[in-house]
Parts: sequence; C-alpha cells; structure tokens
Amino acid sequence: MPSNEEMMSKLAQVVDPEIGLNIVDLGMVRKLDLRGSNVEVEIALTVRGCPLAETIETDINRVLQELPGISKVSIKMTSMSKEELNDLGARLQKMRSEQKSVGKAAGLSAGIDKLEKKGIQNIIAVMSGKGGVGKTYVTAMLAVELRRQGYEVGILDADITGPSMAKVFGLSGKPFADNIGVVPKTTETGIKVISMNLLLDTPDTPVIWRGPIINGVIRQLFNDVNWGDLHYLLVDLPPGTGDAPLTVFQSLPVDAVVIVTTPQDLAMLIVKKSINMTKQLNIPITGLVENMSYMKCPHCSETIQMFQNSDIESSAKSANIDFLGKLPFDLEINKLADQGKIEKYSSPETENLVRKVRSRMVDLGGITVQPLAWKSSK
Ligand SMILES: Nc1ncnc2c1ncn2[C@@H]1O[C@H](COP(=O)(O)OP(=O)(O)OP(=O)(O)O)[C@@H](O)[C@H]1O
Ligand SMILES: [Mg+2]
Repeated sequence: MPSNEEMMSKLAQVVDPEIGLNIVDLGMVRKLDLRGSNVEVEIALTVRGCPLAETIETDINRVLQELPGISKVSIKMTSMSKEELNDLGARLQKMRSEQKSVGKAAGLSAGIDKLEKKGIQNIIAVMSGKGGVGKTYVTAMLAVELRRQGYEVGILDADITGPSMAKVFGLSGKPFADNIGVVPKTTETGIKVISMNLLLDTPDTPVIWRGPIINGVIRQLFNDVNWGDLHYLLVDLPPGTGDAPLTVFQSLPVDAVVIVTTPQDLAMLIVKKSINMTKQLNIPITGLVENMSYMKCPHCSETIQMFQNSDIESSAKSANIDFLGKLPFDLEINKLADQGKIEKYSSPETENLVRKVRSRMVDLGGITVQPLAWKSSK
C-alpha cells in the first residue's frame, strides 16, 4: 500500500499546463484518500471550468496508477475559494518577480518606453498586413470563446480610424472614468471593451488625425484605461504595417500575435510583411489563421471555396509558423455582428482556434495564466 507521501510525490509530477507549476506546490490537492486499492482525489482548479482540466485528470490517473497497489483513481474537480486564490496569488506573485516573462525576454532593446502590463497577464495582438480579412471578427471570436471558457478578457480596438468593435458587441455610450482611469464598457458576457467609437460624440464622426496623434491615443487606450485584472487582453490592429501596429508593438507589452489571412496568394503576399515585421521586432507569433476559407451552401450543404484555393498551410510552414486552422465564411456571423450580438455565435472551428492559441501561449513559455485574486489592492 503506498503511503500518503508516496502518492503526494507522484502527484507532484503533475503540472498545471497553464501555470507551469506542479499541482502539489500550487495547493490544488484538496483531498487524497486511499481505500483498499481505490484512491479518491479532489483537485481544486484555479479557474472555473478550466479547459485544461482533462489534461490534469489524465496525468493524475497515469502517475497514481504507476504505484503498486492502486487499481482505481476517482477524481473530483472543484475550484479554489477566494481565500485559496489569494493565498496562491501571493505565492505566485513572489515567484513572478523572480521570473522573466517571455514578453520581456522577447521585447525590444532597452530604451524603448514600453508601458507596464499591470494586472494583465497575456496581451495578444491580432494582425494582418491585409485589410478586410477578418482581424476584427477573429479578435471578437477569440474574446467570446475565451470568456466562455471562464477567463477575464478585454479588447483594445487599436483601429483608431476604422473602429468597429463596439458595434459588433452592441455597445454604445461614453465610458466614464473612475479614480484609476477610464472604465471600459462591458459586454453582456463580461468582456471589457475600449474602442475609439465609444469615445466619440457620435459613432459616425470621422477621426482625422496624423500618425503621431494616433500613436498617443493608442498608448492612452492602454495606459489610461482601468483594465483591472485580466487573463487576456486582445488588441485588434488596423491593416498594414504602419504607425499603429508599430506603436502597439513598441509601446504595449505584447506577448504574442495571431496573424489572419484569407486563402489568396495576394493576401498571403501582404501578410508576409506582417510576419516579417513581428519577427524583426521579436514579437512571438502564435500562428496563422485562415479566415473565410470555405462556405457551406445553405441549401445543399455543399462546401464552396470562397477564393481560388491557395495553400496557406504550406505558406505557414515555409514561414516557420504554426497553422492555427481554417474558419468558414458564415452568414450567421454577419447577421449577429450587425445586430451587435456576436457573443451569441459559437462554432467548433472558433473553439478549436482558441484551444490552439492557448496551447501555443503555453508553448511559448513564461506566459502564465494566474488566478486573478493576486491583485488584492483593488
Ligand atoms: N468568417 C466570416 N464569415 C462571415 N463574414 C465574415 C467572416 N470574417 C469576416 N467577415 C466579414 O467580413 C468583413 C470584414 O471583416 P473584418 O472587419 O473582421 O475584417 P478586418 O480585417 O478587421 O478589416 P479591416 O482591415 O478593415 O480592419 C466584415 O463585414 C465581417 O463581418
Ligand atoms: Mg478590423
């Protein structure tokens, strides 16, 4: 019969993939009870509905079954209480100060004034050199899915002259400011959004500003906004490799980018400029998403190629970046976006995309999703 210590040392081999530490050190093992050859384990997850729970469960099963005398492992998944999260947060914060984040490690040379990350754990910019390929839609879908999976999510619409994020989420009215900063608007499911359109007197007022002013505004939308504690902040970039994306990469502590394209050689040609830009600036790329790849005929369900099919997957491979998947052209998206109800949209493709992005963020290492209670001052 294995002892408690033996079982605990086995459990210490199980690592929470997102936090990157073992579940024993994280204090996630709440109960460990051996009856005969059956062991009952209770695990307190840090995030409600943690999508990586299955991985943790499989690993626990595997390591405990390696011990002689154990034939069955029953695992109950619960979540940590606020006090437990606070306690864990304090410990992680201590470790965090000793850790170097990938964002910093991969950041620009000293001397460039990067803004502080504050309570935001992961900043992902969505870009494409090409206009109209679906950056905004992909940003919105990533946010919606991450939120659905239980994360705290924000969106910074860095498209200052063509902002559309408020519209797709059905948000309007000017945000007010508290003593920390401008308070973002919150969508129905709780995504925090800041977009230039929300700050204008009327949404159809054109923004006619030159580059330096736009740069200043992007910095403000990040720094002067009270984002609070977020697991993910998604930044929707305007098309091109001009001033706005450069400001975002030079000023904001961006951890990684998602690159969007449509399956066209022409699009890919321009998208390669973005890939090269991020490589030059040392911003890690999570991968390439192919949007509007195909459409299902509403009458006969036949798959229709939207563009003359080009091999984006091979292009990604030759550019040495991951292919994150294909998203269909779906009229439901246009309908919901026009109604400001994009949060009602879900599809296996977008769910899969989020899974891949999250797992790439884990692969990039150093970017850890931590429980949110660690910032107790607010
Ligand atoms: N997968 C999709 N299915 C259906 N419609 C889509 C899809 N992706 C994008 N669209 C539509 O295509 C149009 C362009 O998409 P979107 O605004 O997201 O592109 P963008 O790359 O952000 O454009 P811009 O370069 O102007 O910022 C929008 O009307 C959007 O609703
Ligand atoms: Mg856009």
